[in-house]
Amino acid sequence: MMKRIAVLASGNGSNLQAIIEATESGVIRDGTVALVVSDRTNAYALERARKKNIAASYFSPHKYSSREEYDRGLVTYLERRQIDLVVLAGFMRLLTPYFVLIFQHRILNIHPALLPSFPGEHGVAEALAYGVKVTGCTVHFVDEGVDTGPIILQEAVHVYNDDTSESLHSRIHAVEHRLYPKAIDLVLRDKVTIKGRRCIIDEG
Ligand code: GAR
Repeated sequence: MMKRIAVLASGNGSNLQAIIEATESGVIRDGTVALVVSDRTNAYALERARKKNIAASYFSPHKYSSREEYDRGLVTYLERRQIDLVVLAGFMRLLTPYFVLIFQHRILNIHPALLPSFPGEHGVAEALAYGVKVTGCTVHFVDEGVDTGPIILQEAVHVYNDDTSESLHSRIHAVEHRLYPKAIDLVLRDKVTIKGRRCIIDEG
């Protein structure tokens, strides 16, 4: 049975694109992108979804009185559409504990740094400014914190002397586009077991 993925995205949606293509090519074996939601009306991610005939919805933060009300609306929407897995792909809103509890262990995020270093909104720029020689990206389960949930996969990216935030982010993006589909495939095939803070991956 194909599992139904909802992708939440605020921006360009290049990870969304990689995930859709991975469902088409069979890199993601047991899932299909059933819908895309954005908190920004002009997010290119919505356009990418429509081009693939995937339901795409704008959820306006201005229509709700609080972050929790927003999340309640979103949860109802996702539950009605029988979503199995929520995938955050550049979604720049922090989910409330209400949302996290309902979809516990069924929400993934990708972050453009090697967590727990450089969490938050500016992971690439902060790693560069700090002067690290190696950064990378992390796929993790989402909990109530900011980029604190159990880590599923990570991959390193070297920082070059002449890197700018843009050049570094573009190399990180390239890795993300490979790593995120792989992590989603593992989770959908029940190959990831959470033990405390650790994710045990059954690669077989
Ligand atoms: C990605 O690099 C993702 O890691 C980052 O936003 C970018 C979205 O790109 N997420 C965060 O910084 C979350 N804290 P995309 O819209 O092209 O997929």
